Amino acid sequence: MIYNELAAFPDTFLWGSASAAYQIEGAWKEDGKGASIWDTFVRIPGKTFKGTTGDVAVDHYHRWKEDVALMAEMGLKAYRFSIAWTRLFPEGKGEVNPKGLAFYDELINELLKHQIEPIVTIYHWDLPQALQDEYGGWESRRIIDDFTHYAETLFKAFGDRVTYWVTLNEQNIFTGLGYRQAMHPPGRIDEKQFYQVNHYASVANAKAIASFRKLVPHGKIGPSFAYGPVYPYTCKPEDILAAENAEELSNHWWMDVYAWGEYPKWAWSYLEKQGVAPEVTEEDLAILKSGIPDFMGVNYYQTSTVEKNPLDGVTSGKFNTSGKKGTSEATGTPGVFKTAFNPHLETTNWDWEIDPVGLRIGLRRIHNRYGLPVLISENGLGEFDKVDEDGRIQDTYRIDYLRSHIIAIQEALSDGVDVIGYCTWSFTDLLSWLNGFQKRYGFVYVNQHEEGKHDLKRLKKDSFYWYQRVIQTNGDTL
Ligand code: BG6
Repeated sequence: MIYNELAAFPDTFLWGSASAAYQIEGAWKEDGKGASIWDTFVRIPGKTFKGTTGDVAVDHYHRWKEDVALMAEMGLKAYRFSIAWTRLFPEGKGEVNPKGLAFYDELINELLKHQIEPIVTIYHWDLPQALQDEYGGWESRRIIDDFTHYAETLFKAFGDRVTYWVTLNEQNIFTGLGYRQAMHPPGRIDEKQFYQVNHYASVANAKAIASFRKLVPHGKIGPSFAYGPVYPYTCKPEDILAAENAEELSNHWWMDVYAWGEYPKWAWSYLEKQGVAPEVTEEDLAILKSGIPDFMGVNYYQTSTVEKNPLDGVTSGKFNTSGKKGTSEATGTPGVFKTAFNPHLETTNWDWEIDPVGLRIGLRRIHNRYGLPVLISENGLGEFDKVDEDGRIQDTYRIDYLRSHIIAIQEALSDGVDVIGYCTWSFTDLLSWLNGFQKRYGFVYVNQHEEGKHDLKRLKKDSFYWYQRVIQTNGDTL
């Protein structure tokens, strides 16, 4: 602590919580919705934990009024949710499906009725399967115009009522898991393709933002980046260099493009030498510069500690998707960096390091480098939760986690960082892409599991009442 007193949260601070369409809605074939790449992927045996799908998820599509009523009861100031592209455009483009539009229209109106600020995520990974089939989805330049057209449809439909927008959720994650680790659709391992896909996604992001300026001149828009600030494992210069490499290749590669419309220099030259740098046109560069966001959305879960990796060193290691502590492995890029276990941090059962100070560090790095306000668009703890006999869920571990991260935000505010809001992940329990329903994040427990039938009943956890008080007191009572 370097201050006697911390800055107060601004009155306008967006105390929020978040979700994503595929993880909550269910109703995967209802009211004209088309199939997304996730609807297809989860049907391939062995891809998700116990074969879980989002066919029903937590049935938000049918229970959204009940869910919004719970948000209102909590006093939530903002709710971040995503729109399923396939509900609006079952084939990814063409005629808009009025029922898809109506669903989100009603949801937005209901939120506003309760003074809850809607934060709309345009894309949270559920690409229309039709676009994947037609031209490879993000693998083709054609995605740029289809994405922009989809985004413009949303701007025109909801821009009169929705101020805050998130373009792409965690571009670094959906492209990495989709094209490097083959753990998300379309399940490839192709480094060159990974960088090309990212380039198209960045151009699509910028083009949508440029269009937003014309269609929603008073709105605020930005991407949500999965930011894991990097630490060196030791003070050996080789490890410091590895950390610089990782920060540039794993973070600046995206954030520099969002904030400045430019690729970082060392990373570009390294990737060119490896023969994997993307093909970029002059027009692309102009588009990147024309679509600078209003804020950097940050999804923060953990930091990453790295060390020197020899040329014949570690590449891709195993992820822990079982909830059995200590089952994840180091990953890295030979000659550049590899991850290391940080002995100073506790981890969750999924081996995610718990590091609130890392959030403060990350916020300061963004503030200093880009000068942009930050919206924390996700932060939370995924754990096994237990329902007591009397129906109570005593998730003190989640309260401790969130409290420590909120203090870190307050410290960052005191440091001068402009943080405009905090969305926890998540409001209700929901489907974790690869970990099924057992890895829970919500303030509201949902009786849904991977096996057997469940009644999808909503139960308020202890953390629900805790966050309610935090909001009521504008962060004074933690
Ligand atoms: C983020 C995503 O990566 O982390 C969410 O935006 C996701 O969609 C969340 O659910 C937590 O990840 P996981 O793997 O624990 O569900």
